[in-house]
Amino acid sequence: MPVLSAEIREKIQKLIPLYPRKQAVTLPALHLVHDTLRTVSNDAIVEIAELLELHPSEVHDTMTFYAFFKGEGEKLGKTRLWICRGLACMLRGGYELIEHCQQKLGIQCGQTTADGQITLEFAECIGACDGAPACLVNDVHAMNMTPEKVDELITELKLK
Ligand code: FES
Repeated sequence: MPVLSAEIREKIQKLIPLYPRKQAVTLPALHLVHDTLRTVSNDAIVEIAELLELHPSEVHDTMTFYAFFKGEGEKLGKTRLWICRGLACMLRGGYELIEHCQQKLGIQCGQTTADGQITLEFAECIGACDGAPACLVNDVHAMNMTPEKVDELITELKLK
């Protein structure tokens, strides 16, 4: 049974005419699958490769070039919480914030809480230096964070 639904396949196929070569669709296809399934399993890699007429190793190479994607045996939580540890954030308590989040959630960066709600990550500058220390909650900035604000945020996210 295929891992990619008919809907995902159709979306990938619709991307193909928008790019000069099928290979160029690899990254958007990976994002599409990752956003939908919260992971890109080995079977998904094979199916993406089939759709794009590539060898699975080409898709795998692209995927693993970026530390962004969760692969076989890994799964993103409902919310991906990135804590910035870039220079501005580091100088304003970013490292301490990461420590705090790890303790609060009982996981290390790169891991997902047992309830599947939150994946904690660190980031290198998320473009919000004027609001350091900053976080990304999926794609949304949260700025001038403190341990107290992070606690509130985590409570909110756990209730979603
Ligand atoms: S260093 Fe953290 S947002 Fe730029």
